[in-house]
Amino acid sequence: MTTTTMTSGTASTSAVPAAPHLREDLLTPRFYTTEIAKAARTDLELQRPAFEAMLAEMEADYNREHFDRKAPLDRLRSLSTEEKEAYESYLVRSCVSEFSGFLLFKELSRRLFQAQRPEMGRLFQLMARDEARHAGFLNRALVAEGIEIDLPTLSTKRPITWFPLSWVLYSVFLSEKIGYWRYILIDRHLKAHPDNNFAPLFDFFEPWCQDENRHGDIFNMLIRCWPALRSGFRGKLLSRFFLWSVFLTHSLTVCERGDFYRILGMDPARFDAEVMRQTNRTARRVFPWVFDLENSHYIDLRDRLVACFQQLQAAREGGADRCANGG
Ligand SMILES: [Fe+2]
Ligand SMILES: [Fe+2]
Repeated sequence: MTTTTMTSGTASTSAVPAAPHLREDLLTPRFYTTEIAKAARTDLELQRPAFEAMLAEMEADYNREHFDRKAPLDRLRSLSTEEKEAYESYLVRSCVSEFSGFLLFKELSRRLFQAQRPEMGRLFQLMARDEARHAGFLNRALVAEGIEIDLPTLSTKRPITWFPLSWVLYSVFLSEKIGYWRYILIDRHLKAHPDNNFAPLFDFFEPWCQDENRHGDIFNMLIRCWPALRSGFRGKLLSRFFLWSVFLTHSLTVCERGDFYRILGMDPARFDAEVMRQTNRTARRVFPWVFDLENSHYIDLRDRLVACFQQLQAAREGGADRCANGG
């Protein structure tokens, strides 16, 4: 597995091993690329009015003033060592995840311009703009914690995962919509319980999540430009596979980051279930098939997998302790 370039400490500190909560594992966000030549063959005429509307919304740039680079992002109260690690781990993964979106959209934009698809190139350029702002903002919150991530270097050292275009369309649609629900549910909770709001970063989540919502709507439009992706057995298989994998990754991440949600005064299991319910409901408008979360074995199976993941983590930590003790 690739070693990250994350360092703990100030900018002047020479490279030191990443703190445990910054280490790479199965749930660390990946960097992706896809069949760009095929993306350049997208028939926008099938969705021309929706495309024009989305491009106009992105050009309007409603959040131009929102991500104030001078806004202080220092934490408002002290946290225990475990809580601090949970918060920092949340920041690192969210930052890498936003940066991963930026890289994918930037590369698609560049290659679509090259392929003489300027309208699509512009749309991806505007989405890359948003993701760069999001990653930059999270990076500033990390700097306030005394942690620096060298994102450009990180992107050259981590392996790039290749996905067929259909996989990118399905998975990015879901990632954007699940991202929307994560941000908005935290925002609603903190507005109802302001005493739990321990960092100014959270005050930026509401317009931020609208960016993710728009990106999801753009991917909805792009999926509809490829009607075969939503029909027959293939449509059902793509829907089922990506709902399952995105939801499971979400559950495992929330389980691993339980302490972070508890500092916010949230119940991680309830948050996880609500994010899935809402994202599944949103996906119903786009995918030909979604889960029946109330009446299927999905939740049971997921609970068993999460329990298995917890046992594996406990075994790994026990093993690490034994190694540290010379056992
Ligand atoms: Fe984002
Ligand atoms: Fe996004």
